[in-house]
Amino acid sequence: MDHNTSVTDGPELAEPYLREVLAGAGLAVEYVRAEGNTLYQRGDDGSETPVVDFAGGYGSVLLGHHHPEIVARAQELLAEGTPVHAQFSRHPYANRLAAELNRIIHRELGTTEPYFAIFGNSGAEAVEAAVKHAELDRGMRIEALLTEIGASARDALAAVASGAATVAEPTLTRFGLTATQDPAAAVRLLEAELGRHNATQTARPPLFLALEGGFHGKLAASVQLTHNEGYRAPFRSLAAQARFVPHDRPDLLKEVHAEERGVLLELGVADGRVVVREREFPVFCAFLVEPVQGEGGIRVLSEEFAREIQEFCAAIGCPVVVDEIQSGMGRTGTFLAGTAVGLRGDYYTLAKTLGGGIAKTSVMLVRQAYYRREFEIVHSSTFAKDSFSCHIALKVLELLEADGGLAYRRAAERGEALRAALDSVRSDYPDVIDEVRGRGLMLGLEFRDQSDSPSAEIQGAARGGLFGYVLAGHLLRAHRVRTFPTASAVNTLRFEPSLYLSDAEIAQLEQGLRDVCALLREGAGEALIAM
Ligand code: F0G
Repeated sequence: MDHNTSVTDGPELAEPYLREVLAGAGLAVEYVRAEGNTLYQRGDDGSETPVVDFAGGYGSVLLGHHHPEIVARAQELLAEGTPVHAQFSRHPYANRLAAELNRIIHRELGTTEPYFAIFGNSGAEAVEAAVKHAELDRGMRIEALLTEIGASARDALAAVASGAATVAEPTLTRFGLTATQDPAAAVRLLEAELGRHNATQTARPPLFLALEGGFHGKLAASVQLTHNEGYRAPFRSLAAQARFVPHDRPDLLKEVHAEERGVLLELGVADGRVVVREREFPVFCAFLVEPVQGEGGIRVLSEEFAREIQEFCAAIGCPVVVDEIQSGMGRTGTFLAGTAVGLRGDYYTLAKTLGGGIAKTSVMLVRQAYYRREFEIVHSSTFAKDSFSCHIALKVLELLEADGGLAYRRAAERGEALRAALDSVRSDYPDVIDEVRGRGLMLGLEFRDQSDSPSAEIQGAARGGLFGYVLAGHLLRAHRVRTFPTASAVNTLRFEPSLYLSDAEIAQLEQGLRDVCALLREGAGEALIAM
């Protein structure tokens, strides 16, 4: 049996079109076993062929496939009959996990303020929880603001009724109201007008800020924060929108703010006159940022831009959601990748490696100053916070933190070794490779555009948006190396292996990449694409 054929004789019903697309690039193979940094394909004769895994479960197996200690913990949990599902009961293991996450984050940030944890099952779910929490908080802040505005109006009405204040004509005409001799009628007119203005403002949907090239998930709300228009546009009407800011234009933040900001109007009394004051309306719900963009092409946020974001958000009172779903959990050499660029999240999202490669779990963390306990009553998810996932995640943290954080140092060291290999390929093929980017074990290799390649096959792949997939297909077929392009930037191949990446595996990748580069340089499309 060929690797590309289905094991069943029945029709393909689980995303048959995607399988066809993958088959076109030679990627629709089945893996039957996984261990460490290796996935195994079953050959025609039943033998297993090892493939070095640089895709790493989209960055979710930093500790390798089936890490023996994680597997042992899982087996122990199942053997003990751990109640996986015991919703609406005490969850001490979730609490221990939250405490351990806090301990690590506090150490990295040098803070002591607690982060409260809301668990989920996938990355997008953690982002959606952050979005919902931020909107709950924003709504509660708006309500508090309206309550204050209501109290100020009552004070102003009382001041006018008692004769302590009057309404000056310009105050009325500024709002298109005609002057009246009756101060009580005038202030009521004014209050009604401000009420209409405020109602228009509060009816505005929340607005999110995010970066161009960012990826935060593909569920209804999170996909609107994901920059790729192909994913986002068809579902625009389902959720609140984001304004996307490019990496190299921090000045645009102020521009976006000026365009979108709104104010609520409040009555006040000063020197015997009724006055109208402006209160900033919190239209911006949250700013989402990946310290190292993953799906969008492996791009590291600069320290300078991180600082600009932080200062901008502090100035306008908008929480910063640091999405560490892919970059976090030690992958870049620190537990949080944001630490290295000076980012401090009001919220953090973690997933992928949190589940140790076997559990599907995620968490959203909220800084105490922003935390609304009401969220715990209005938000829930059947599978979230289950004992199995929490115990596995605790084991993952234990492994990362062991030996004084050896895992973090190892991610940095292995990352440097891998990067040296990528740099060396680039320096020999600068005509083919544009750039090496990333940090630690989150690296990307961007190829130059091949839309004008002399080879019709290469040109076709480049123009059809399949370029990176074709390269990945060749690396798999000819070199037993598994990687993928970053889906929103298909000229960039991504490398997110485990901590246990060996020098021999790096050499295997380097050899494969040199072969790919040579074929591209020669325009040898047939050899590159041949199945
Ligand atoms: N946020 C980031 C930074 C991600 O990289 C991803 C997923 C998500 C959120 C959504 O997580 O898939 O568990 O719902 N990234 C994948 C990738 C798709 O290509 O790296 P999810």
